[in-house]
Amino acid sequence: MGNPLFRTKNIDKILRDAETMEGDPHAGTGLKRVLTLKDLTFFGIAAIIGAGSFSSLGQACYNGGPGVVVLFIICAVACGFTALCYSEFASRIPVAGSAYTYAYASFGELFAWIIGWALIMEYSIGNIYVAFSWSDYFTLFMSRIGIHIPDFLTCSYMEAHGAVIANAGVSLSSLTSDTKELINAWNHAPVIGGLRIIFDMPALIICMLITTLVYVGVKESRNFSNVMVILKLCIIVLVIAVGAYYINPANWTPLNPAGVRSFMPNGFSGVMRAVSGVFFAYIGFDAISVMAEESKNPQRDLPRSMILSLVICTVVYILLTLVLTGVVSYEKFNNVGDPLAKIFEESNVGWMQFLVSMAAVIAMTSVLLVFQMGQPRIWMSMSRDGLLPPRFQKIHPKYQTPSFATIITGLVVGIPLLFTDKVFVLDFTSIATLFAFVLVCGGVLLIPRKEKVPGRFSIPYINGRIIFPAIVVTALIILILSNNNYVSSLFQITEDNASLNVSTIIFWIVMILIAIACLFNTWSLIPLLGLSSCLYLLTGMTGMNWAWFASWLVIGLIIYFLYGYRKSKLNV
Ligand code: ALA
Repeated sequence: MGNPLFRTKNIDKILRDAETMEGDPHAGTGLKRVLTLKDLTFFGIAAIIGAGSFSSLGQACYNGGPGVVVLFIICAVACGFTALCYSEFASRIPVAGSAYTYAYASFGELFAWIIGWALIMEYSIGNIYVAFSWSDYFTLFMSRIGIHIPDFLTCSYMEAHGAVIANAGVSLSSLTSDTKELINAWNHAPVIGGLRIIFDMPALIICMLITTLVYVGVKESRNFSNVMVILKLCIIVLVIAVGAYYINPANWTPLNPAGVRSFMPNGFSGVMRAVSGVFFAYIGFDAISVMAEESKNPQRDLPRSMILSLVICTVVYILLTLVLTGVVSYEKFNNVGDPLAKIFEESNVGWMQFLVSMAAVIAMTSVLLVFQMGQPRIWMSMSRDGLLPPRFQKIHPKYQTPSFATIITGLVVGIPLLFTDKVFVLDFTSIATLFAFVLVCGGVLLIPRKEKVPGRFSIPYINGRIIFPAIVVTALIILILSNNNYVSSLFQITEDNASLNVSTIIFWIVMILIAIACLFNTWSLIPLLGLSSCLYLLTGMTGMNWAWFASWLVIGLIIYFLYGYRKSKLNV
């Protein structure tokens, strides 16, 4: 018998378990199959367009300038390949666990647990960022209709405390309005028992409302989500159309520090600094795969809806970025949390500011909804496998939703809202999601190839044996020839780009090793390209991101060995 840590779950067994859930007193009657291709595509768009485009896009433009469009294209390519890999898995294993279940079938139990653990960061921790951003725009929206919520009820304790420490002794008049609000929150917060009462009330309330909606039922959530998607797409089209009128093409080629006009004023490393924010904007297409058990025809519709929603969102992002950086100089987006409203503020188009803040609130509500639905379904799958307690798979007899897991998700999002801040959770979410994507692409390489079945998606097979190594060698030669300083720059460890260079070196070493392994295998090219593009995006993460992520994984492993390893259903 092999090592139990790498025991894999047979695909037929996964499908049988999902269908019957026999002999389990906690299981109910199963989930309702109500979702069509249109619903799933709308779910995808609902999950994708949100805080990334309305909030983190501003800082991304500041870091990368107009050239951040290139990063959107790179991320779209990486996500596109990954979506094909998700589709292959989703068509073979149409059950609710998403990447977690796929890893169980390919890499084995330990990796499955690690992915399940990383997905908590994507879904729950990601939703913390979205809830904070939602609150920013909601507060803005309320102030535009004349209702002012006290500052100490619209920011996190950590942010206010951080602002006070960072700006001690600095004159208030030299601070931005956002920083002034944080300091104001600290100075005017009520104090109980020596503790300042500062918390983001709108973020907490939206988290409670969404948890309730998800608890009550998928059908109700679907109708609500579809309406929000239509509204947000209409307003985004309007933003692009009105914004296009104010574009000054000279803004697309600003002066770089050397005084030369450039599409990437901070160079490519500046563009790569925006990875967390840009990648975050794409997270969500994979959430469609957790709806497998509620979809009417998952094998046909899951792949189609993932690709469709990704294509639509990519077009939207490229146009939005071009409008943003065309209307206002990229330098004005430093620390701007509401960049789309900002361009209309600069152009004095008041009614558009109002519409944008409304669209942002709608867009982010739909992201919150989809992610809040995704998390319990992954836990439900982990519980079915014995890796989490049986209560996580309990289906509510009336609403037919995973009720206990839904409440726990609400708590996992809601409680940290009181203790964290936005920047931290953004980086955390992006690194964990990329990590999960890498394992999904790698997993497709490991499952046996199958005959194509009509009506079911299967990834087009192109033998990567020669092509992939040829791509790696060509890319390396082009990089070295096109920039004489490239190799030396990899080894120039400065404080600013240390982690980028170290991870870039590791990236190329891994690429060369994979290319060598390809020569001895008949691996499919598309997953290989997905794997390499996601690994490439990981090079944009800082050393600090890696340290936090590693700590999170260690905690996960401790829990696995204390519970899942002993209770796994694969124990015989
Ligand atoms: N892509 C989602 C958003 O931008 C997570 O909010």
